[in-house]
This record gives sequence, C-alpha cells and structure tokens, in this order.
Amino acid sequence: MSDSKSQNAMWGGRFASGPDAIMEAINASIGFDKRLARQDIEGSRAHAAMLAATGIITDSDANAIRKGLLTILSEIEAGKFNYSTTLEDIHMNIEARLKELIGEPAGRLHTARSRNDQVATDFKLWVRDQFDAAIGGLDALIGALLDQAEAGADMVMPGFTHLQVAQPVTWGHHMMAYVEMLGRDLGRMRDARVRMNECPLGAAALAGTSFPIDRDMTAAALGFDRPAANSLDAVADRDFALEFLSAASITATHLSRLAEELVIWSSAQFRFVTLSDRFSTGSSIMPQKKNPDAAELIRAKVGRINGALVALLTVMKGLPLAYSKDMQEDKEQVFDAADSLMLALAAMTGMIADMAPNPKALETAAASGFSTATDLADWLVRQLNLPFREAHHITGALVKLAEDKGCDLPDLALKDMQNEHPAINMQVYDVLGVYNSTQSRVSYGGTAPVQVRAQIARWREVLK
Ligand code: ARG
Repeated sequence: MSDSKSQNAMWGGRFASGPDAIMEAINASIGFDKRLARQDIEGSRAHAAMLAATGIITDSDANAIRKGLLTILSEIEAGKFNYSTTLEDIHMNIEARLKELIGEPAGRLHTARSRNDQVATDFKLWVRDQFDAAIGGLDALIGALLDQAEAGADMVMPGFTHLQVAQPVTWGHHMMAYVEMLGRDLGRMRDARVRMNECPLGAAALAGTSFPIDRDMTAAALGFDRPAANSLDAVADRDFALEFLSAASITATHLSRLAEELVIWSSAQFRFVTLSDRFSTGSSIMPQKKNPDAAELIRAKVGRINGALVALLTVMKGLPLAYSKDMQEDKEQVFDAADSLMLALAAMTGMIADMAPNPKALETAAASGFSTATDLADWLVRQLNLPFREAHHITGALVKLAEDKGCDLPDLALKDMQNEHPAINMQVYDVLGVYNSTQSRVSYGGTAPVQVRAQIARWREVLK
C-alpha cells in the first residue's frame, strides 16, 4: 500500500519518501478541522501583527501575510478553497495556500510558533464561541420558561414523586424548577468561559521561544484576558473542552428530563399540554397521530453529548506532557456535542414557547389520587392539636374509606370524617381543594403563587 509520493512540503525535510496512504488517512484531520479555518486565520493575523510589532519580521512581510490571509478567508467563505488531505490539517492547508498567494513571506509566518500552540489557540477560540452560544441559548430558553411560569402562576397541576400523584403544585412552580436547573447550567458555562480565557499562542511547540515575542499583544488581539502562564500546560491543556462537554452534558441531562415530561404530558393519557404543530410530526400510516419527535430527539441527544465527554476524558487520560497526536481526537467530539446542544436548546425553546397547557386536565389530575391528604393531616395538627403521627393515621383511614367508596377526599360526608375523629368540622373542606392547598404553601421556595411570582421577578432581575 505504500506510495512514492514526494515528501511533505511542510515538514518533509528529513524524510526520504512520502507517507503511506494509510498513514495519510489516519493522520489527516482536514476532513473535520476545516471548521477551525476562521479561528486559524484570526490567530495567524494576530501572530503576524505581533511579529512585525516586535521587529521579528518586517512590516511589509506582515502586510503581505495579512492580505493573503484575508484573501484565503474570502475564498473559504465563498466555498472556493481547495482542501487537501496531503496537507493534513487546516493549519497547513492555509499556510500552503498563503505560499501560493504571496510567496516567500508566507514562510515567515510560522516563526516563533508551532502547530501545537496554534491548534490549542484555534480550538480555544472555537470552544469559546460555543460557550457564548450556549449562554445565549440558555438565556432564551429560560426566558420562555419564565413566560410560561408567569402565565400559569396560579394554575394547578399534580406534583409527582415516583411518578405517583403526591401533592398539588402550581404550573408556574414546575416551570420554575427548570429555570433553577438551567440557571445553574448558565452559571457553569459562564464560570468555565472565564477560566478558559487564557491564550496559548506563543507557547510554541512546548517550551516557549527565544524570539522576543509579545504574548500580551496576541492575547489581547484575540480577546483573551492574558497569556497562559506555562508553555507546557498551554499546549497540553484540553480541560477547557472537557469543561464545555461537562457543562453541556449536565445541560443536556436537564433538557432530557424536561423533554421526557413533554412526551408524557402530551400523550392522550395525560393531555396536560398541547404541543404546537411546528414542533410535532405526523405518522405515515396512522392519520390521527401527532408525535412529539422534537422532545424525543432532545431526550436522546444527551447520549451523544455524554458520549463525547467520556470519549475526550478517555483520550486525555494518561497522556504525558506536552502535546501528543492523540489530542487531535478532541475536535470531532466537541464539534458534534456543541452542534447537538445548540440544536437541542433551540428546539426546546421553540417547544416551550409554543406549548399550551390544558388547565382543565391539569386541575382534574391535580385533584386525583388523594393529593390533598397531607393538607388534611396538617389541618388535624393545626386545628385539633393532634400529634402529626396520629393525624397521619386518621388521614390514612379516610383515604382508605374514600378509596372503598370510589370517591375523592372532598366527596366524603362530614359524618364519615367524624367517625374517625369527632372534632372534625366543616372547615376541613377548605383545605381539601387544590387551589387552597397550593395557596397555603407559602414557605420560601414553596409552590404558592405568591412565592412563584417572587422567584419569577428575581430571575427576571438576574437575567437583565
Ligand atoms: N492537526 C493537529 C491537531 O489537531 C495539529 C497539531 C499538530 N502538531 C503536531 N505536532 N503534529 O492536534
């Protein structure tokens, strides 16, 4: 399978022959790292400007490099750039094209730089954009949830534990639970973005360089807060990508839980919500069907995002310092995870914005399953001064009675209740209704509309 192609123009000086075709296939990353083209050109422009400012190359060479890079950028944007597998990756593809365009000065661009600090910089710039996109996507989704919460702050629905009806809650409260989760996701993305914003450029291959470079200048030009302080770490670090994938995995986990609820809620058995046609599909054989495909796909996307995290953790584990080619395997995972996350966020935002809760079905379900039994027990404690354990026991007996009669707690006659405890009076019926139940739970963070509205106001302020 060997071929006698000529040596690689970029690094072939010490080689007598070109690489085997299989070597080329396993080695090349251009098939996927072309997505770093814009970042690569940005990084090279900053590097060339710095090389000129420090007198390492002439202004006229730097100018030629800048113009050539801009030409390449427009070729790439116009889809006219010719990517070559022989040139391995995006970095060498661009440098080779620069040589074609401007000749000799192109060979000076790589002074005081290595592909190791180059790729770390390019990839960081790309991942940083993804943090920003995720932050924007989370912001939009939280906004849609806040709107739902506000519109349904008083609406009642069943609250579940073990997917068994537990106690009535408000729709607003349930929406706000996801606001809290996604708000933490937002915080994780923001924290990680701050931590990762150090520039690897100038670390060169691993040890720094003897040229009088100005790393503060390139860091500032590329929007980094400072240059990375250790050249070995700068080229070996991929934990910025791992942090992105971890934050993305947790976010995707939250999205999948919400997606699962949408799947359940939109079923004919629940009918809690109607999902919009815009985010549903039909069946090719069953004309009556309207399927929550977007929710199902969001529920599933977490699989590949978690997979990407595990894959990159596994690639990085045990790698000696500094750069190893293993690290080329970082990109496809992160690209795929980022694409999946952004799509899932956008789809979920659309679904939540369009979703119409069904107040009747929610209320009926909220009242079912003896959901106000705890309210009854609490009433016995509060009004009759019973110990909670005794109140729990009496309530249990009344639930059993209602179950035998095939009715709900509020349907029991007063004399049935008084059979269990003679002091029970008409006032008890006030706490058996789902609206009174939810309105009574005014403890901080509780489900009462007044608490939910306070949390909505707080989040609107936080997100301003
Ligand atoms: N394509 C490589 C990567 O993605 C670029 C860095 C190559 N560096 C090297 N020393 N071979 O990691």
